[in-house]
Amino acid sequence: METVLSGIRPTGNLHLGNYFGALQNFIKMQDTYNCFFFIADYHSLTTHPTPENLQGNVKQVLAEYLAAGLDPEKCTLYVQSDVPEVAELYLFLNMNAYIGELERCTSFKDKIRNQTQNVNAGLLTYPTLMAADILIHKANKVPVGKDQEQHLEMTRTFCNRFNRMYKVDYFPEPVAFNFGETLIKIPGLNGSGKMGKSEGEGNAIYLADSAEAIRKKVMKAVTDSGPTQENQQKPEVVENLFQLMRVVSTADTVAYFDEQYNKCAIRYGDMKKQLAEDMVVFVKPFSEKIADLIHNDNYLNKVAEQGKEKAKASAAKTIREVREIIGFR
Ligand code: TRP
Repeated sequence: METVLSGIRPTGNLHLGNYFGALQNFIKMQDTYNCFFFIADYHSLTTHPTPENLQGNVKQVLAEYLAAGLDPEKCTLYVQSDVPEVAELYLFLNMNAYIGELERCTSFKDKIRNQTQNVNAGLLTYPTLMAADILIHKANKVPVGKDQEQHLEMTRTFCNRFNRMYKVDYFPEPVAFNFGETLIKIPGLNGSGKMGKSEGEGNAIYLADSAEAIRKKVMKAVTDSGPTQENQQKPEVVENLFQLMRVVSTADTVAYFDEQYNKCAIRYGDMKKQLAEDMVVFVKPFSEKIADLIHNDNYLNKVAEQGKEKAKASAAKTIREVREIIGFR
């Protein structure tokens, strides 16, 4: 069975865009592949979090991914720093990662420009750590977004370089991977095309949101002044509201408001009220589960421990073999 692996940034607050994007893919993959999902807490040290923030974020992310449907019985869900074998592979790979190629990496160039007061070596070697994450379990498929494609390309470079250097066919070359069909587009609430944490106040609906928070944000959603001709095309901000409604409301509800729009009789206030209520119903099972899990340290620790055992078994085997190949005998 092929191995799928992905790292998760330890920044909490999953929103509906995350849920209908990467997350639903992860959930489906669990049944078909040997999946490793881990919380990338080593990576997050490049931004110097306090110990309290680091620990809180890891916990929040673990609770949210479990609430959303990652199943520790089906996949290996672990915390990166619980598997220090990754750091050893990172050291080995760094010996054959060249400064020039690391400096040319787009994400590094962005960091030099925007984070001038903290351009640390961890940022430079971020792609090597990511390669270690992937190669430690000899993963074949990596579900990544556009922003991570260059990192994955560098993983392939380090992978092939290792194999060539030691004349082995040891690491399989990992490829980018999207499971299933086209992803559902989730627009934001403030007129921005996509839901995102960095898209401004009130733009995103989070899985952990309370009913009050959801109502407030949906009622503030941007619309226009209404249609003036029958059956006219909807401007983007209005189409966005309809798209959100298609995701959380029944087909009848969507059809009703569509008809109202086409007859120029739509009242956006009513539509938003309905959307808010349907959104509340959709999010409630998630927010309740998250609230429940976040107070269940015993369970979270058990999940992390179980993931650690499974990930460590796989990682220790790789490190043993890599040490042998390199010549530590
Ligand atoms: N860099 C990825 C991100 O920012 C997270 C990540 C770390 C990752 N290691 C990985 C993703 C390995 C895929 C495979 O989202």
